[in-house]
Amino acid sequence: MKPTKTSITLAPMTTLKVSDGLVKDDVLVVGLVSTNTKGAIAIESGDLALDTKSLVASLVEMGATGKADEITKIPGGPARLIIFTGLGAKTKTYSDETLRRASGSAARALAGTNSATFALPTKDLSAVYAVAEGAGLGAYLFNEFRGSTKDDHKAPLKSATVFTQLASSANTHSAIKRAAIIAKYTHLVRDLVNTPPSHLTPDSFTKKLTASIKAAGGLKAGLKVTIWDEKQLKSQGFGGIVGVGQGSANPPRLLHISYTPKNKNAKRFAFVGKGITFDTGGLNLKPGLGMEAMKSDMSGAAAVCAATLAIAELALPVAIECWAPLAENMPSDTATRPSDIITIFGGKTVEVLNPDAEGRLVLADALVKAQASKKKLDGIIDVATLTGAQVVALGTRTSAVMTNNAQLSELFLAAAKSCGEQFWPMPLPIELRASLDSPVADLANIGDKNGGMLVAGLFLKEFVSDELPWLHLDIAGPAYNEAKAHGYTPVGGTGVSMRSLVRLVEQA
Ligand code: BES
Ligand code: MN
Ligand code: ZN
Repeated sequence: MKPTKTSITLAPMTTLKVSDGLVKDDVLVVGLVSTNTKGAIAIESGDLALDTKSLVASLVEMGATGKADEITKIPGGPARLIIFTGLGAKTKTYSDETLRRASGSAARALAGTNSATFALPTKDLSAVYAVAEGAGLGAYLFNEFRGSTKDDHKAPLKSATVFTQLASSANTHSAIKRAAIIAKYTHLVRDLVNTPPSHLTPDSFTKKLTASIKAAGGLKAGLKVTIWDEKQLKSQGFGGIVGVGQGSANPPRLLHISYTPKNKNAKRFAFVGKGITFDTGGLNLKPGLGMEAMKSDMSGAAAVCAATLAIAELALPVAIECWAPLAENMPSDTATRPSDIITIFGGKTVEVLNPDAEGRLVLADALVKAQASKKKLDGIIDVATLTGAQVVALGTRTSAVMTNNAQLSELFLAAAKSCGEQFWPMPLPIELRASLDSPVADLANIGDKNGGMLVAGLFLKEFVSDELPWLHLDIAGPAYNEAKAHGYTPVGGTGVSMRSLVRLVEQA
């Protein structure tokens, strides 16, 4: 077996700052908007006064329109260069997500730059936060595996300053600090997703996380790690994780991270993330075309682990029990065969009709284990790149939420919306449940082909107590961007769901 790297070299983070003084940075970022349908444009520079007349004339000459994701550069102004980032049509106020995306787009265009001041129309603190977060999220580069072409790719923007009249308030400073933490852990998710399966096995995933936990302060920060190896998984009855992992030379793991806050009577949530480090489909081998994207099949695990670390670093007063069942789904003479029967932790048996429906098997083990602890849970949330049907139903930018508890779902949807992540509620229609019946076991791992995302959700529901508020997030499409970069979202791992989980816990 090839040795795998155990360290995770997080790309150097962009330093986030605020200022209301003289612009001293190399580049100035301002907004550009369209003011009518005939191509008229205007500059939106928020709290920064700017002589815009001659600039607008040049911009019109250059054909700038102000539409979202449009970047136009003009040398000069109060800095060496002005970058105009499109905000769309002119309005009185701009949504946080519009600002976050425009800021992210500018940050991507600023690769190779030392410092930039972002002067965008920020009506309040949450808008200032969005600009800072957008800059932090957009300034991302995954360059670890380049050799001779490493230097062709410029380093992310080193320092981003948000220009605002709120610069001196203490709230602004804690908001900027939060933005930096969110960006750092979104980058961790992206790095893990982008790392190829040759270098990210179930075992190396646990080692990378252990290193990140140490860097986050470990026990001092309230973080504790426990790892189950393949022997322990087998002897303790984790038939789902073992069954999925048994076809691979890289044995499976179960990773548990607990975060205990300082306050005693805190609420407690469990997170469970699908951690398939590569999904070939097993003996139901996937077609070659597009299989490479299955290195992203551990996005759920990466998101829940990073969210837990972010929650700890923000010292939020909520306890988290985070579970990542990790396995590599490979075809081999030791792989699970269609018709094999496995026993999930806790005793339910599953007939594996399709070894490519593996995510639900590892999640079932972890969901049951998460509920087995004596510590009472207030909710449980699983995150998974679970079904191709999710992509068919909602596309590549909107994730699905399924639940047994409308109240928790609404709370989550509000949290997701407030941080700019697109989620949409999906039903768990009871009439689809019978399609999961097996003639020989308690359940089959596949059911009706129609509504495949919902069937997968109904499978998981079998492993969650009806009394425990539960959310199932299917992020199959949005976790991995195979199209072009946009806003603050790069190509490859996106980090989706991490921000929503943190916000949910914050608001719970
Ligand atoms: N990891 C895939 C789901 C997936 C597909 C994620 C596309 C991201 C993009 C999952 O393990 C899978 O293979 N699901 C099967 C389930 C089917 C066999 C019931 C699917 O969706 O085809
Ligand atoms: Mn699969
Ligand atoms: Zn999968």
